Amino acid sequence: MGRAPGPVLGIETSCDETSAALLDGDRLLAHVILSQDVHRVYDGVVPELAARAHLRVLDDVVAAALEEAGLRLRDVAVFGVTAGPGLIGALLVGVTWTKAVAWALERPIVGVHHMEGHLFAASLEDPDAVPPFVALLVSGGHTLLLWVPEWGRYELLGETRDDAAGEAFDKVARVLGMSYPGGPPIERAAATVAGDPYPFPRPMLASSQQPGDDDYYAFSFSGLKTAVRNRAEALDAEGRLPAERDAVARSFQRAVLDVLVTKAMRAVEEKGCPRVLIGGGVAASRALRDALRDALGEGGRLLHPSPRMATDNGAMIARTAAFRFGRGDLAGPDLSARADLPFPGLVRTR
Ligand code: KG4
Ligand code: ZN
Repeated sequence: MGRAPGPVLGIETSCDETSAALLDGDRLLAHVILSQDVHRVYDGVVPELAARAHLRVLDDVVAAALEEAGLRLRDVAVFGVTAGPGLIGALLVGVTWTKAVAWALERPIVGVHHMEGHLFAASLEDPDAVPPFVALLVSGGHTLLLWVPEWGRYELLGETRDDAAGEAFDKVARVLGMSYPGGPPIERAAATVAGDPYPFPRPMLASSQQPGDDDYYAFSFSGLKTAVRNRAEALDAEGRLPAERDAVARSFQRAVLDVLVTKAMRAVEEKGCPRVLIGGGVAASRALRDALRDALGEGGRLLHPSPRMATDNGAMIARTAAFRFGRGDLAGPDLSARADLPFPGLVRTR
């Protein structure tokens, strides 16, 4: 099929960002992201409120993107929409809107996997962000370590057995009385402290682990969250939590980054490829980028999106839709949102 015959509209509504972008070939013509502040009030995403907010603003977000691009809806050649994974009510708003509009205009639809979107995000800004690479996808819902020899072929090396990396940041932020989403305030607090004042256990990380072991590439962040909570409660009982909060945030971040970087470097070693791509909201972390760059050293290459492209956005969905359109992966009239949509092209080799 090849290249899309005109602008691709990418729609993202899987969680708490409503976003639309127009992509024509390599040119991003417009990109609008509306974050739902309502979830800050409740210290986390409330699924029902997320769905209602998407419904209220999606028309306006698309209209703003079209205006920015100087296009009308009928100029859109291909519609791409996040079909999963994510919050089912939130996903349904984007999928239903797209089905109605695309079929009225008789245009093709591509149902996009949200995490494949995060995989493509860096390529919107960096022409070198193409396979082969080791990919570390770290978001609020997923932690995936992949080997990517080419677009569309993904070997799953490891994933989390419980909480996702971003989820751990959000839960620890709540324990420490910081705002949602937790990543940015924890990173800011951590930057004010040096070293590792409260060394926490590094979950799933042991020097005795060998390639081929079950846990060699696996992640787990739930126990770390509990260790941080216990430490915070102990400090609170002594009245020292306010003074030590930033130090706890620092050590928590250190523990997460240590695990992420060490496992990514194990994959670099095994695959003999010193290129690491990061994606997902946690990839917005400067601390993560710096730690990976350090570990990769002179001969390595870190491929990363800007913070705006790292968190949820429509541009990465448009980019992925263009790729999938080129493969002929079009959705039929039965396209539906799926909270547990399987990652296309993903093979488990261990
Ligand atoms: O990809 P994303 O926008 O949404 C999901 O697909 O889940 O990721 C959101 C996650 C949140 O958990 C948020 O705390 C985390 O990304 N995050 C960060 C940073 N910025 C956002 N985590 C660590 N450091 C950051 N600077
Ligand atoms: Zn995401």
